[in-house]
Amino acid sequence: MHGRETSNIVILTGAGISQESGLHTFRTMANGSMGWDTGLTVHPIEDVATPEAFRRDPALVQAFYDARRARLKEVEPNAAHRALASLDAAWPGELLIVTQNVDDLHERAGARRVLHMHGELKSAWCLACDTRMTWSDDLGDHPPCPACGVAGRLRPDIVWFGEMPYEMERIDRAIMAADLFVSIGTSGAVYPAAGFVQSAHHFGARTLEMNLEPSLGSVWFDETRTGPAGKLVPEWVEQVMATA
Ligand code: OAD
Repeated sequence: MHGRETSNIVILTGAGISQESGLHTFRTMANGSMGWDTGLTVHPIEDVATPEAFRRDPALVQAFYDARRARLKEVEPNAAHRALASLDAAWPGELLIVTQNVDDLHERAGARRVLHMHGELKSAWCLACDTRMTWSDDLGDHPPCPACGVAGRLRPDIVWFGEMPYEMERIDRAIMAADLFVSIGTSGAVYPAAGFVQSAHHFGARTLEMNLEPSLGSVWFDETRTGPAGKLVPEWVEQVMATA
C-alpha cells in the first residue's frame, strides 16, 4: 500500500474477523435466504432479526440473543482483533473501526476507536424510557429497567433488518476523509455497509479487502487479499505500521 500518503484509515469488519474466535458467520440457507448459524440450528432472519419477529415471538428472539450474549463469555479475541487494537493504539492519524459485529471482541482486544453500526449484544434498550445501557445478563426473564423500573420492556440493542444502523453520519464523514479503506471478513451482502467501499473509492481512498474469499463487492477494491483474518490482518498491520 502507499503508506506514506496514508493518514486517515477506516476499517470495516464483519463476522469473518470473529470466526477464528469460535463465533459463527451467517450463512445462506437452502432456500437462498440468509440465516444465523448457532452451530446447532440455523435461524432464518425473519424469525429472529426483525422488529416484526420481536412483536410476534419476543421469547424466541430474547432466547436467541441471550444465547449469543452468553456465548461471548466462552470466546476470546484472536490475532486479527489484537493486531487492529495495536494499530489503533499506535496510529497517529485518524482511524475508525466500523464493525458490523455485535460481539465485544474488538474492545476486549483493547481497541478504542470502535463504532458498532449494528448495535451490541452487551447493550440493552428500554422501550419504556428509551434508555440504552450496558447489559451482561439475560433479557428473556423480563428484568426491570435499572433506569425507569418498568419490567419486561428491555430489548437487545441490536439493529434489526428494517431498522437504521447507528451513527451513519459519523461513518460517512470518516469515509469521505479516508485515505485508506480496509474491509475485513465481510461478505458484502448487507447494505449500507456493503456500499462503503464504493463511497470510499468515490472520495479517493485506496481500498483493500481481506477475506477468506473475494466478497460480492470485490471489484471495488484496489487490492484483495484472500485468507484467514488471523494471518492476514497482523501481516497488514505490520506493513502499515512500518509506514507510520
Ligand atoms: P457474513 O457471514 O455475511 O460474511 C462473513 C465473511 O467472512 C464471508 O465472506 C466469509 O468468507 C468471511 N470469513 C469467514 N471466516 C473468515 C476468516 N477466518 N477470515 C477472514 N474472512 C472470513 O457476515 P457479515 O458480512 O458480517 O446484520 O454480515 C453482515 C451483516 O449481515 C451482519 O452484521 C448481520 C447480518 O445479517 C445485522 O445483524 C443487521
